Amino acid sequence: MRNREHPVIAIDGPAGTGKSSVTKLLAKRLGYIHVDTGSLYRSIALLSLSKGVDTTSPEISPRDENTIVEVAKTAKFEFKLDPMKNPANRILLNGEDVTRQIRTPEVGMAASKVSAIPEVRGALLDLQRKLGGSGGTILEGRDIGTVIFPDAEIKFFLTASADERAKRRLAELEALGQDAPTFKEVKRQISERDLGDSTRAIAPLKKAKDAIEIDTTMLTLDEVVGLMERTVKDKWNGS
Ligand code: DC
Repeated sequence: MRNREHPVIAIDGPAGTGKSSVTKLLAKRLGYIHVDTGSLYRSIALLSLSKGVDTTSPEISPRDENTIVEVAKTAKFEFKLDPMKNPANRILLNGEDVTRQIRTPEVGMAASKVSAIPEVRGALLDLQRKLGGSGGTILEGRDIGTVIFPDAEIKFFLTASADERAKRRLAELEALGQDAPTFKEVKRQISERDLGDSTRAIAPLKKAKDAIEIDTTMLTLDEVVGLMERTVKDKWNGS
């Protein structure tokens, strides 16, 4: 199905399946724009945390929820190409570069919590559609193929075993030079996030009916991207 001159590609899946690395490399090979939608939720979480919001208890208090919604509704995002690490994007929230701070496990956990608030998802909806809608774009997230771009021409859903995902996430944190928690703790955090992301009432993490599922547990980054690149070319040229 061709809705655009160049396709919108949706890549969804749980934390640690390699979505970011895969999306970056695929975008580079195809010359497409990479949109990391998780970075938007992470930025909202970071700013909310800095305002003293507590996302660690099972329920967010009504007062904290108001603060988070206000942050989401007034957030101004800018994206810049990193001259040193082209084509990695830098993300600015209300004029402040938050690219690095949003990558901690704590912000990831808080992002999962704030992303379950309907008004937060609503506040980020149009922006995501604007960023990806022209086509020639690859968006990675949890609900891209189901909610943001149900009409995406090509959809992938990545999975991997829990152990493999924890291993990759740990390596990623170490590469960022962060104080990495233990393997067991990373695995626990990933499971907690998966549970929250896939059981929330609004836009839960779910494979779209027409998404191609790839289990990446036993595959290298190159193998996954190669497989996706062939699929994109076959599907797009054959449509
Ligand atoms: O992909 P990530 O780890 O950067 O995402 C952080 C959190 O943001 C994730 O646990 C759930 C939320 N998220 C979401 O709800 N919908 C998206 N499209 C992307 C991320």
